Amino acid sequence: MNDKISVVGGGSWGSTLADLLGRNGQNVTLWEFVPQVAAQLNDKRTLAVMPELNLHPGVHVTNDLSEAVSGARAILSVVPSEFVRGTFKAIKKTGKLSDGAFIISASKGVENDSLLRMSEVIVQEIPSLAGKVCALSGPSHAEEVVRGVPTAVVSAGPGKLPEQTQDIFNTDNFRVYTSSDMTGVELGGALKNIYAIACGACDGLGLGDNTKAALMTRGLNEIVRIGMAQRAQAMTFLGLSGMGDLIVTCLSRHSRNRLLGEKIGKGLSLKEALGEMTMVAEGVRTTKSAFDLARKCQLDLPIINEIYRCLYEGKSAKDSLRDLTHRPVTSETEHFKGGEAQPS
Ligand SMILES: NC(=O)c1ccc[n+]([C@@H]2O[C@H](COP(=O)([O-])OP(=O)(O)OC[C@H]3O[C@@H](n4cnc5c(N)ncnc54)[C@H](O)[C@@H]3O)[C@@H](O)[C@H]2O)c1
Repeated sequence: MNDKISVVGGGSWGSTLADLLGRNGQNVTLWEFVPQVAAQLNDKRTLAVMPELNLHPGVHVTNDLSEAVSGARAILSVVPSEFVRGTFKAIKKTGKLSDGAFIISASKGVENDSLLRMSEVIVQEIPSLAGKVCALSGPSHAEEVVRGVPTAVVSAGPGKLPEQTQDIFNTDNFRVYTSSDMTGVELGGALKNIYAIACGACDGLGLGDNTKAALMTRGLNEIVRIGMAQRAQAMTFLGLSGMGDLIVTCLSRHSRNRLLGEKIGKGLSLKEALGEMTMVAEGVRTTKSAFDLARKCQLDLPIINEIYRCLYEGKSAKDSLRDLTHRPVTSETEHFKGGEAQPS
């Protein structure tokens, strides 16, 4: 094993992180699933979906997964969450994963049906990776990181993995904090997309900042309740991967989930809205997982319920908003008694 870092996923985030690592002087190989996109990254050093990318010349690009992971000391997993399981199945099949390699998971989602976080999906596919997976998350739109805009993220996982990840990525303009609460960091990064859809729907309905601030704050309350039911630490959700990512995703013009919500708010069906999008909006699948997870944990989470109904049952955003605003008002901390989240 050498100093090689393998970035698995050449979408906007994977390519941006590969570029950042290349600029940090790391030995980077970037694997991209679509051969034509891999060729474009290799030849033109850019992406059609992100023309501002000028991929560092030291980054080696390949479409061959076996070549990509062979001998790597760290693998950055950054394919969209729906493809994480398939990608790790394929990595296992290559037989080229080094014994000492560890995984940095940067995909944000909770898998449908299994309701597993991405680190859990990875370990389920390759059990020998137990204790060797950490998560990298936080408010970090690729479009801004690629321009060197100051950004702060968090790396969470067991043992020394967060510090090792910090050493690999940290720069003045890409500050990596550490955490031991991987559950909280992963859940914050995944669930915020649901509230970005809700805030986008507000934009589509022509509402204002008050409503979005209310959705974000009550959304954070829902995230904490799911998180605590999954044994995450409440404080994690006040950090970069919780509140930080919630703010950026709900308010940014770069957010695909907010944009999808805006289309839903304007009256498009999910199918019509997705038909107008060129990139993945992971919040759609995450809404289904969160809806199921809340039921499993016996939690009544009204915003998740309404976004689920809008996306999967054809309810209009206007009707959902009416039903949310007609709920009886309660104490703001109704579900937190004695510092613990209570079931609904
Ligand atoms: N874009 C961002 O700013 C950003 C920031 C932080 C985290 N993330 C996370 O990074 C992950 C990747 O997002 P992105 O924005 O780079 O994606 P993207 O939408 O830019 O690209 C999609 C990628 O999926 C790949 N793909 C398609 N089918 C596949 C398959 N069957 N197997 C493997 N790969 C396949 C495509 O080749 C492409 O590389 C997501 O989980 C996202 O939440 C993104």
